[in-house]
Amino acid sequence: MCGIVGYIGKRTALPFLAEGLSRLEYRGYDSCGFLVYDAAAGNIYMKKSVQRLRDAIPELDNAQSGTVGMAHTRWATHGGVTEQNAHPHRDCAHEIFVIHNGIIENFRELKQMLEMRGHRFASETDTETIPHLIEEFMKQGERYEDAVAHALRDLRGSFALVIFHARFPDMLIGARFASPLALGIGDGEYVFGSDPSPISLATRDVIFLNDGEMAVVRRVGYDILRFQDGAQAHGVPIQLDKIAVESSKGAFADYMLKEIFEEADAVRNTIRGRLLPETGSVKLGGMEQFEERLASIQKIVIAACGTASYAGMVGRYFFEEYAGIAAECEVASELRYRKPLYDSSTLVIAVSQSGETADTLEAVKEAKRKHALTLGVVNVVGSTIARTVDCGVYTYAGQEMAVASTKAFVSQLAALNLIGVFLGRQRAMSLVMGKRIVQELARLPDIMETLLGRNDAVQMIADRYANARNFLYLGRKYNYPLALEGALKLKEIAYIHAEGYASGEMKHGPIVLIERDFPSFVIAPRDSVYEKTFSNIQEIKARNGGVIVLTTEGNHDFDSVADCVLFIPKTIEALTPILAAIPLHLFAYYAARALGRDID
Ligand code: M6R
Repeated sequence: MCGIVGYIGKRTALPFLAEGLSRLEYRGYDSCGFLVYDAAAGNIYMKKSVQRLRDAIPELDNAQSGTVGMAHTRWATHGGVTEQNAHPHRDCAHEIFVIHNGIIENFRELKQMLEMRGHRFASETDTETIPHLIEEFMKQGERYEDAVAHALRDLRGSFALVIFHARFPDMLIGARFASPLALGIGDGEYVFGSDPSPISLATRDVIFLNDGEMAVVRRVGYDILRFQDGAQAHGVPIQLDKIAVESSKGAFADYMLKEIFEEADAVRNTIRGRLLPETGSVKLGGMEQFEERLASIQKIVIAACGTASYAGMVGRYFFEEYAGIAAECEVASELRYRKPLYDSSTLVIAVSQSGETADTLEAVKEAKRKHALTLGVVNVVGSTIARTVDCGVYTYAGQEMAVASTKAFVSQLAALNLIGVFLGRQRAMSLVMGKRIVQELARLPDIMETLLGRNDAVQMIADRYANARNFLYLGRKYNYPLALEGALKLKEIAYIHAEGYASGEMKHGPIVLIERDFPSFVIAPRDSVYEKTFSNIQEIKARNGGVIVLTTEGNHDFDSVADCVLFIPKTIEALTPILAAIPLHLFAYYAARALGRDID
């Protein structure tokens, strides 16, 4: 969840690093740090802060004219949120500086060994072992680059690193293992980034480092080496042509609101050029190459985390109902530790906005080891998961800057629908059914625009309920995952405790919690499980619980039952989640705003 930017070139580094780091704010952080080396003055400038970037950046000494440096946003794992624990970390001689994403699992034993050799530590972090380890190997006579490679070989865990040494100021070294790092190749300048967004400030030519690689970057060129054996690796730059880097909020107060309002466009971009209404099918270039193998798939396993896993759960219902394939969806952080039974007739679908989520990536690697076919539903072009899977369907939702994943979610839903139609039409899905779904998908972006125009109604209800301490979200079948998504967003953004439940599970325990001050948000479109959900709502009312219902336009069953009613236009049951997402996202956003939360 942390962010890395490194720069070496001809610009003044500090403002570049500040702008680059701001582009990584969406990843979340609790502290930040900057380092710049000024060759003329022989001066190292380092500033760490536990403030938000917008408060820390004005405090930077902009007179610093150095053209090499690095910056980091930290999300505390080892040691509290203090300036001391913020990155960069340095060795005893204050010459070697490291910023790091990931976790060094063997840091305790390394630290113990280093302390026995006289190294003194200034922080509680796992990261600090790295500069000391490099220092130790240099003391033993190793060249700087060799000492770095040696240290990297001794680390266990995950890392993306950028390293600076004051005695080699015209060089930056970056390395990765199980945590993403990319190198931008500009005109006389180089940028490291934990994702491409800061890199795109300088160049669109990017090398995504592979696990086990280090990039030794000098002002006049670079080498990509394998740190295991020092052999040259073949880092081939790719063009970031498909990554739209949105750095402005435009007229919106927050990125989250802007991105919710981009949900219709996100779906438009996902389906653009892919619907074939005449034949009731879809064109997915990334899957065509595997057409034959996909036709023989017997089981689908969807791996994802957080919001992406809720999209995956909706996908599971769709694959079973429309493609007739047994499907399951599991959070990747569990799936990767199971001993799942895969073979070459299994399709493992990894859903990820960033394409860098470590658990999802590991689930893909495990699937590949077991000869399953792997397919990515990924937003960030060229990301690690996108490069690891056998085939893929990009979502093209555009960059998400807010912490909350919103437009990526609806685009994931649309992409999974497309995949379902592709697989369904290979099997028993009729021409008529294929046409119906494809035509309905084509209509959705316009319907979504209309729905977004009704944001005021959601805001009024959110203002009314923002002071609730607890919330229950309920849904069935296709909209059970949406209940989970609504609850996650309310927790993540408004910091209100919320539980997402399958409506049918309410009577198996949570119903005892219902009372006047414990409201429920029920997703109840007129679908195949409507009557059941209706009964649940009556059970809540019988206990005096407040109820907000999200139902289908024209349905007035709740006028005298619910406290508040929101509507979504009528569509195919399987596509209702794409519409339901909008009021759920807006509700969490406006509740957070009413409470004065720091939304992005
Ligand atoms: O980049 P990914 O889609 O793999 O990320 C997965 C989750 O971390 C992400 O969806 C998270 O749950 C969101 N911040 C929720 O809004």
